[in-house]
Amino acid sequence: MPQAKKDPGVKKVLEALNQARSMELQAIHQYMIQHYVLDALDYGQLCANIKLIAVDEMRHAEKFAERIESLDGQPTCDKAGPIVPPQGPKEIFTLDTNLETNTVAAYNKFAAVCRQAGDSLSSNLFEQIIAEEDVHLGYYQETLEHIKTLGDAFLAKYAATSKHTGPIKSFVKVMAKEDF
Ligand SMILES: [Fe+2]
Ligand SMILES: [Fe+2]
Repeated sequence: MPQAKKDPGVKKVLEALNQARSMELQAIHQYMIQHYVLDALDYGQLCANIKLIAVDEMRHAEKFAERIESLDGQPTCDKAGPIVPPQGPKEIFTLDTNLETNTVAAYNKFAAVCRQAGDSLSSNLFEQIIAEEDVHLGYYQETLEHIKTLGDAFLAKYAATSKHTGPIKSFVKVMAKEDF
């Protein structure tokens, strides 16, 4: 789309899309290392859920890359920030709640940048992805709340549960009980 490059708003849109892509890459790495730890601690179902969320973030990273390429940009492969070594479930769910909260706030700002630039395809993409991040955030918040209030009694429910996800599908669709 060579004409799009001449639009002064496109540079800002590309910056927003690439910043978002780097946030997705950070989340992918962060969630992958966490689900390995949850697996090692034998919290199978918590491990499976975070694995599915990591896969959602991979899809998001690809969607941002596709949009960047369609605007003649270069998708970044850099992570937005460092990866925090995972500890226990409470630390993991606290970190992830913060990560998703920041993501929703940032993507709302990026969607506004795209709208201002007159790029409704990019702002719509942000809006679709915000809706999915909101499902992740809800899950992390709810789980963290249970860990805080019920502690070991809540975590005991997950001890020795299966980590199998079945065919890899979207966490958002699993939560909505929809077919992929
Ligand atoms: Fe994401
Ligand atoms: Fe997310």
